[in-house]
Amino acid sequence: MTFVVTDNCIKCKYTDCVEVCPVDCFYEGPNFLVIHPDECIDCALCEPECPAVAIFSEDEVPAEMQEFIQLNVDLAEIWPNITERKDPMPDAAEWDGKKGKIAELER
Ligand code: SF4
Ligand code: F3S
Repeated sequence: MTFVVTDNCIKCKYTDCVEVCPVDCFYEGPNFLVIHPDECIDCALCEPECPAVAIFSEDEVPAEMQEFIQLNVDLAEIWPNITERKDPMPDAAEWDGKKGKIAELER
């Protein structure tokens, strides 16, 4: 079991999640974060910290966001680790809550 970062993180990237992760298993792309599923210890600390409500337990990922499970697997292998909180994306407030942001995902 792992936790998964989903659609609403894209173009927001608040990074509050990073601050609480005890095993530093977040990886950072240009406008999205992912969780490495083999490193996540399923502690659930990050889930309530995300202001965008973008983090779900793997078995609670909404049906329309299932593809994010594999995206976290794949991108965690190629993106660099992030261990400290940073400023959100400049237009985070504007993008927070928009649907279907996967079209905006930069790799
Ligand atoms: Fe890190 Fe825990 Fe969140 Fe997994 S569930 S990403 S270990 S804070
Ligand atoms: Fe993304 Fe939420 Fe973390 S927006 S960077 S999953 S705090």
